[in-house]
Amino acid sequence: MRFAGKVAVVTGAASGIGKAAVLKLAGEGAHVFAADIDEAGGRALAEQSNGKISFIRCDVTVPADIEALMNAAAAKAGGIDIVFNNAAAGGDRAPIDEITPEGWDRTMDLVLKSVAMGIRYAAPHMKGRKGASIVNTASVAALGAGYSPIAYAVAKAGVLHLSKVAATDLAQYGIRVNAICPGFINTNIFTASLDVPGELKTQANAVIAEMSANAQPVARGGQPEDIANAVAYLASEESSFMTGTHLLVDGGLTIGQRHAWDKETPGIFDALLAMEEATKAGSPA
Ligand SMILES: NC(=O)c1ccc[n+]([C@@H]2O[C@H](COP(=O)([O-])OP(=O)(O)OC[C@H]3O[C@@H](n4cnc5c(N)ncnc54)[C@H](O)[C@@H]3O)[C@@H](O)[C@H]2O)c1
Repeated sequence: MRFAGKVAVVTGAASGIGKAAVLKLAGEGAHVFAADIDEAGGRALAEQSNGKISFIRCDVTVPADIEALMNAAAAKAGGIDIVFNNAAAGGDRAPIDEITPEGWDRTMDLVLKSVAMGIRYAAPHMKGRKGASIVNTASVAALGAGYSPIAYAVAKAGVLHLSKVAATDLAQYGIRVNAICPGFINTNIFTASLDVPGELKTQANAVIAEMSANAQPVARGGQPEDIANAVAYLASEESSFMTGTHLLVDGGLTIGQRHAWDKETPGIFDALLAMEEATKAGSPA
């Protein structure tokens, strides 16, 4: 019961990573304010919680919604102890030579500004709370190309840097700020972000689950609970010497090229050796 008596706020709480974090924090004693635009999902979560979870409708692209969420959570016990700024979706999928200014702004609002405003409106309620901790969801997409569309990747890189710099602003108040970079996690985000018709979503999710099991050195798909465990760690006193940094929870996805861990896949080095052999034999490939 690491969070007994604590008040926590989680955004994007009705599904996937957010939902798993809500259940983890509430399961270890916190009262959790679960925020989402999905009212049916959020209410269902609260109803099964024996009063440990309160659902609040909040669109994280609307700063007034975030302010109202943080005020409501703070009213419960005179402040907020834990905030998990997690809500997002895939954003605009256009490449850099095609994206519109509107698509770029929409993605930044949803993925980056939402986190900045989450910190902005939570921090005044966290000052002086012992063990106050803010955790933000970034992504492996913040660390390199090829994991997501460009606007999302840039916004997530912004979440990483925001987490560092906000940690310095808030250190004087005893508030820690960290980020998590999830790898390929089995949630609805992919089908929510792709144009997949409703009736095909279950089928598409099954294909994604199969892909995710083989995407990284750890031979299983990433689960929302893998990230919720990291959230709980960063929210708890066990990580009290960590601030302004991130945890990479990706099953090894970002270690490097696939051939480094999948010996069936030829690597660049193997190709060079083969070329050397072929050259020595007088027949360059
Ligand atoms: N699943 C992955 O592989 C993965 C990898 C890296 C990062 N992430 C990040 O993890 C976080 C959670 O995503 P997930 O995978 O659990 O997806 P998900 O689609 O299962 O859950 C996202 C939740 O956010 C909510 N949401 C969307 N827009 C919102 C808004 N404007 N205001 C409030 N709530 C909103 C949705 O209703 C949904 O409940 C996101 O920040 C995502 O970018 C996911």
